[in-house]
Amino acid sequence: MQFSYAHKNTKDGERETKTAQFNKPRISNKIQSVREQAFEKQIPVSDDETLNFICTLTGAVKPENILELGTAVGVSGGVMLDVCKNARLTTIERDENFFNQARENFKNFGVAERVTQILGDAGEVIKDLNGKFDFIFLDCAKVQYIKYLPRLKELLTAGGVLVADDILLFGYITGETEVPKKRKMLVEHVKEYITAVTGDCGLQTTVLDIGNGVALSVKL
Ligand SMILES: C[S@@+](CC[C@H](N)C(=O)[O-])C[C@H]1O[C@@H](n2cnc3c(N)ncnc32)[C@H](O)[C@@H]1O
Repeated sequence: MQFSYAHKNTKDGERETKTAQFNKPRISNKIQSVREQAFEKQIPVSDDETLNFICTLTGAVKPENILELGTAVGVSGGVMLDVCKNARLTTIERDENFFNQARENFKNFGVAERVTQILGDAGEVIKDLNGKFDFIFLDCAKVQYIKYLPRLKELLTAGGVLVADDILLFGYITGETEVPKKRKMLVEHVKEYITAVTGDCGLQTTVLDIGNGVALSVKL
């Protein structure tokens, strides 16, 4: 089966976990409406189960300073700020069109004053970022996750949480789906990321079969 990189709802023909039926996010009508429009336009936004996980996790961690790599149109960012009323979000997006749409959406969600949006390539932007973050949501070019990891560890506070999305890549990583030739390099790099975070003594990591797969790491 071929999958698009647009993250539709998990029930619409993409990888569906056994727990997806229970894990529905409770998000505001405003954010859900932007999300529905994004699905229609094939703009990649997190699936139900991943978004629900992010809501639960940020509700528990109560981060104050969130970094997101991959804003798209601001859905996951808006959701995290909705759960964490005192948090600030720094979010990076390289697509100017998405960047502009996200700016309007953050205003519409009533969170714009708590957001710093950065237009650019995440790999370049993180090199120059100042400050520390107690929650990082890694949700952009999967092939680059392994390259970003050392810098993300530096940017993370002790006890901070790093969530990498799409880590099971539609079943390519677990072997449940055959890897198409053109995805082989991507799969290798994502496996490297998993090996790195699970083997790192400075991190405690669990890979979760949620949505398209999530790696949850805590900096020790
Ligand atoms: C899966 S989407 C993000 C979805 C968003 N986090 C949400 O759930 O609402 C990934 C986004 O990362 C952006 N992206 C991909 N590679 C990037 C890079 N190297 N630097 C910055 N943004 C990147 C894409 O343009 C896309 O909008």
